[in-house]
Amino acid sequence: MPALKALVAQLGALALLFMIGHSGGLPFDHPLALAALQGAIAAFFAAGLRSARWWILIHLAFMPCIVLAAGGGLPPWVYLVAFAGLTLVYWSSFRTQVPLFLSNPLTVHRLAAWLPDEAPLAVLDVGSGTGSLVQRLARLRPDWQIHGIETAPAPYWLSRRLCRKLPNAYLVRGDFWQSSLTEFDVVYAFLSPVPMSALWAKAMREMKPGSWLISNSFEIARATPSSVVNVGDRRNTCLYCYRIPGTVQLK
Ligand SMILES: C[S@@+](CC[C@H](N)C(=O)[O-])C[C@H]1O[C@@H](n2cnc3c(N)ncnc32)[C@H](O)[C@@H]1O
Repeated sequence: MPALKALVAQLGALALLFMIGHSGGLPFDHPLALAALQGAIAAFFAAGLRSARWWILIHLAFMPCIVLAAGGGLPPWVYLVAFAGLTLVYWSSFRTQVPLFLSNPLTVHRLAAWLPDEAPLAVLDVGSGTGSLVQRLARLRPDWQIHGIETAPAPYWLSRRLCRKLPNAYLVRGDFWQSSLTEFDVVYAFLSPVPMSALWAKAMREMKPGSWLISNSFEIARATPSSVVNVGDRRNTCLYCYRIPGTVQLK
């Protein structure tokens, strides 16, 4: 698990630094230099534990940032408030490996234009964040039902505020792994590479034949998209559209 590896790398680096210091092997004692050395050791351990590349940068910067912040003279409650705020926004990201970032307006327009138009659709955004997709799609398609499910309290609360005047937007707070996908014609996911294979397996078990799982940016390993929509925005967003196999058509 990435968070456990990070903890091991940090504690291992602290222990090694302590042992070197105890044996008199450190030629300097400036706090920032010590923190930089601890960061370098932690990054080395993290690479040995095969952590993802961005963890290396986090380890390099983590202890130096603590030393710099400690020298800034901020009152302790500032750290508590910052920690509480980040917890409410990112909630279980350390476990799910899905951070918060948002679908942009052009992506929502392209999605709305691409989806079949013959009948009203029930769409679910799994991990709906601040509701950026739900509110835009609900406005663009008042005849569709747009649902979102989000686990983190702060983005969920904001999404409820933003969608409060949209009668076809439905938001719940919860874990989409514990929720059924059966009633939806379209499930939209903007998550990370980590959960995509498991989400595809869940979609194949629960969704109706002919319905769609659409992944913003992250392809599903060992599955072939029926269509790829190039959004044409600055980040070259692609929507990978996977059709649930079977012969039944959308209602
Ligand atoms: C990258 S954001 C996407 C937000 C939104 N779908 C959009 O496109 O703008 C992913 C969101 O999924 C949420 N999330 C991750 N795992 C989840 C889970 N198992 N159940 C519900 N929400 C989850 C995260 O808290 C995060 O807010």
